Amino acid sequence: MKIGVLTGGGDCPGLNAVIRAVVRRSSSFGYEVLGIQQGWLGLVEGSVIPLTNYSVTGILTRGGTIIGTARKNPLKTEEDKQKLIDNYKSFGLDALIAIGGEDTLGVAAKLYTMGFKIVGVPKTIDNDIPFTDYTFGFDTAVSIATEAIDRLHSTAEAHRRVMVVEVMGRHAGWIATVAGIAGGADNILIPEIPFDIEEVCRSISNRIKKGKAFSLLVVAEGAKPKDGSLVAQESSVDDFGHIRLGGISYHIAREIEKRTGIETRVAVLGHIQRGGTPTAFDRVLATRYGIAAVDLITNKEFGKMVTFSGNQISSIMLSDIIGKQKNIDMKLYDVAKVFFG
Ligand code: F6P
Repeated sequence: MKIGVLTGGGDCPGLNAVIRAVVRRSSSFGYEVLGIQQGWLGLVEGSVIPLTNYSVTGILTRGGTIIGTARKNPLKTEEDKQKLIDNYKSFGLDALIAIGGEDTLGVAAKLYTMGFKIVGVPKTIDNDIPFTDYTFGFDTAVSIATEAIDRLHSTAEAHRRVMVVEVMGRHAGWIATVAGIAGGADNILIPEIPFDIEEVCRSISNRIKKGKAFSLLVVAEGAKPKDGSLVAQESSVDDFGHIRLGGISYHIAREIEKRTGIETRVAVLGHIQRGGTPTAFDRVLATRYGIAAVDLITNKEFGKMVTFSGNQISSIMLSDIIGKQKNIDMKLYDVAKVFFG
């Protein structure tokens, strides 16, 4: 049996841990593994490398992905689609493991309906994939964001400033809420609840009245104002039509300073949240996912995605996640709210 493995979309701590588990589990069954380079692009361009136990030695702790990644939609044009089909055949692949988020898994689901033997592994720091409690990378991103919030807290306090910390997460407030709770944020703005800038300013002023001269706000990159007055999104889109997020916190900070008169600074954490070594939790989750993906192939359970629910690894059909997003658990956000203002 020859298995292909690819990592698509934004990189994420733990990708190498999945690759290592896939290769080690496969070799224990005598399967060969081919690493497809740069996600779906590698299948379109025919770029692969053999992966052996030797090539995955020492990668468990490494960030990024040894086979590279790209935001490539191989089904966008007929030409690319045909190249993918031809390369898949010429490499003699018996099955494929696609490790990625909504877009990569969406392509995998479509290819399955076209007859490809595919299984998926959910990946994203955003933790927004449905039917799975956690995606690997999320825990690492939260740890990095929490450390940053801790550091920004002490400088905000020293200068009696408002500090606005922008975190990733796309259209879900998972990183913002969990890192915000962990870091003791005074307010957390998430995409799921459009914010009222007037209310945000009021909570900052209330804190001052209570003798707290500084405030720390965590803002998810996808946070939206109620009245649509603050626009921070760039118009550029990726291959799947998603706009690039980032920068909303500058608009929020400007408004806060204007309305409250308090000096306000911004820290956009950006890709720092996606880099470097994964936490122990993410290493273990990624390893469990990688092994489960090979086991799905062995059991001929194609068209499925591995999941993690209640500390158990299981699976669902890839088609079940299409067009769905896992929003923040509002009970968790209610916990965060107790500490606002
Ligand atoms: O989906 C992961 C993610 O890090 C989002 O949180 C963020 O909006 C996006 O990717 C950034 O993508 P890029 O690396 O293409 O700038």
